[in-house]
Amino acid sequence: MAPSLPSLASIASILTLVPSVLAGFSSSATSNIAVYWGQNSAGGASTQSRLKEYCTDNGINVINISFLVSIKTPSVNFASASDKCTAISGTSLLKCPEIEDDIKYCQGQGKTIMLSIGGATYTEGGFSDSASAIASANTVWGLFGSSTGTANRPFGSAVVDGFDFDFESTTSNFVPFASQLRSLMDADSSKTYYLSAAPQCVYPDAAMNDMLNGAISFNWINIQFYNNFCGVINFSNPNAWNFNVWDDWAHKTSKNPNVKVLIGVPANTGAGGGYVAAPTLGSIISDTKGKYSSFGGIMMWDMSQLYANSGFLTSVRSSLGAGGSAPTTTLTTSTRTTSTTTPGQTGVVAQWGQYVPPFSFLR
Ligand SMILES: *[C@@H]1O[C@H](CO)[C@@H](O)[C@H](O)[C@H]1NC(C)=O
Ligand SMILES: *[C@@H]1O[C@H](CO)[C@@H](O)[C@H](O)[C@H]1NC(C)=O
Repeated sequence: MAPSLPSLASIASILTLVPSVLAGFSSSATSNIAVYWGQNSAGGASTQSRLKEYCTDNGINVINISFLVSIKTPSVNFASASDKCTAISGTSLLKCPEIEDDIKYCQGQGKTIMLSIGGATYTEGGFSDSASAIASANTVWGLFGSSTGTANRPFGSAVVDGFDFDFESTTSNFVPFASQLRSLMDADSSKTYYLSAAPQCVYPDAAMNDMLNGAISFNWINIQFYNNFCGVINFSNPNAWNFNVWDDWAHKTSKNPNVKVLIGVPANTGAGGGYVAAPTLGSIISDTKGKYSSFGGIMMWDMSQLYANSGFLTSVRSSLGAGGSAPTTTLTTSTRTTSTTTPGQTGVVAQWGQYVPPFSFLR
C-alpha cells in the first residue's frame, strides 16, 4: 500500500530550479535539478541555511521557496528562515528582507527561483467562483510577481521567476486562478516567467487534474515519485513505475506539448517514503532519459535533507551529465538559521521528517 503521508511538505516553499551549465531552468535540457527550500524538512536547529548559501555553482537550477500556505488571506511559511522575517501589521504576511536579498543574489547566479503555493497543509480548497479566483491571482502577482506600487510584498523588490503548484487535496476553481497568473506572466515582457506543478505519480493526479488536463500551460512538472507505490523505489516493477504514462500525458494531454517532466525524489532517507541511493537513481535516470523525450531532470525534497546527504547531489549531477562544480559545503553553523520556532509558530517535524507548519504563519 502506498503510505498516505504529507508528500511535499506543507506550506509555501521556494523552489530553486537550477539548470546544469547555464544555471537556470532550460526547457531543452534533460539535466535540470530543482530543489525545494524553506521547509527545513531535516529538522533541527542548524540544518537549514539561508537561501544564498545554496546558490553557488552547485548544479542546482531551480529553487522552490516553500510555501505560500494560504491564498485567499495570503500567508507564508518558511520554517526556520521565518526567524529573519517580521510580521506585516494588518496582514497575515511576513516581511523577509534576508530572503529578498538572497533571491536577488541567486538570480544573479542564474538560478530560477519559484514560489511554491500549497503544500500538504493547504486547506482552503480553492475558490468559490472564478471571479474570486482571478482576484486572488491578481493579489498573488502583486505580492510576488512584477509589480509597481503593491504594498506588503514579503520579498520587497525581489521578483520571483514563477510559481509552482503543490496541492494535495481537492480544490475548486484553480483553473481560472492559474490561467490568470499565466496571463499576467506572459504579458510581462521584462523576463521569462515559469509555471510548474508537483503532482503525485499516481495518474491522474487527484488534486490538480483539472489544471493538468489540458487547461493550463506548464513549463515543467515535478512528479512526486515518492510516498506512492509508483515511485522510484518500485522502478523495476512494470505494474508500478509509470513514467511512460506521464510521458504520454506530456505529448497528448498537456496544453504545452514541450512540457518537461522531472522525476521527484526524496533527497535523503528521512525525506520521504521510497528513497533510493544515488547509484540506483543513476540507472533510473539513464533508462528514462533514453526512452522518453519529455524527461527534463530531477526534483528533490528538500534542500536541508539534500545537504545532509553527503555526495548525493554530486552523484545525481554526474548521472544527469550536468555541469557545475561539486558542492564544497559543509556550511558553517554560524551562518545557518538557528531556530525552528518563530513566535506564533509551532511547527513540528512530522513523520518522514517533513516539517508541518501551522496554517497561519505568514502573519
Ligand atoms: C516547488 O514547491 C512546490 C510546493 O508548493 C512543489 O509542488 C514543486 O514540485 C516544487 N518544485 C520543484 C522544482 O521542486
Ligand atoms: C510496488 O508496487 C506494488 C504494485 O505493483 C505495490 O503493491 C507495492 O506496495 C509497491 N511497493 C512499494 C514499496 O511501494
